[in-house]
Amino acid sequence: MTVQQDLRQQVLGREVDLSAAAERVVPLGREKVLETLNVGREGTNRREFLSYAWACALGLLTLEGGLATYRFMSPRFSAGTFGGEIHLGPAAQLPTTDFDPQPNTTGKFWLINTEDGPHALYMVCTHLGCLYKWEPANNRFKCPCHASMFTREGHYIEGPAPRSLDQFRIKVIDGDAKLSETEGAGDQILAPATGSPGSEVVVDTGDRIRGLPAALSPARAKNKTD
Ligand code: FES
Repeated sequence: MTVQQDLRQQVLGREVDLSAAAERVVPLGREKVLETLNVGREGTNRREFLSYAWACALGLLTLEGGLATYRFMSPRFSAGTFGGEIHLGPAAQLPTTDFDPQPNTTGKFWLINTEDGPHALYMVCTHLGCLYKWEPANNRFKCPCHASMFTREGHYIEGPAPRSLDQFRIKVIDGDAKLSETEGAGDQILAPATGSPGSEVVVDTGDRIRGLPAALSPARAKNKTD
């Protein structure tokens, strides 16, 4: 009978201290004997279980981090707040074309109406980001920081600003149908046609159109020829 067979018989026949028994079989080695007796499998399973638990926890943590990053990178803006759509009501309620620009502090734009349609001028100066003001006496916008000036329609007149004022896209809708919207074309930005008086005017403050370079401004060209 081999040493292993002898030891297995002892184990099967009566209760013994396995660890002590294993120690006695020095030539075989403790690990070899325990392996023969199928002892230690429970320990391996526990290690495996802990490994799986750690892997699951790590996976959940990574998933949570990924979701948080996605939410941060893809912000959702609600209607009626800056970054979302601002509904201005029926086109019939727009100020008349000879009216001074109307500030909309929620949407951060100046609303003006022209013969071609409405414009929503972003309130921030295109030079270094100051808030420019409306000067009714001079019928123009002027920035208090470095004196850049812009026409009522947002065209660059003079000063260090590199371009005309930025604008938010305006959509004119009738129910689910979009009738027209602000477009950039050539050396100007075209206002949307307002359609019927009942059509609704919506400013999308998440969609900003950059003003055209100062050199292309019709107001600046006019000043040069004056
Ligand atoms: S920030 Fe407006 S002119 Fe400089």
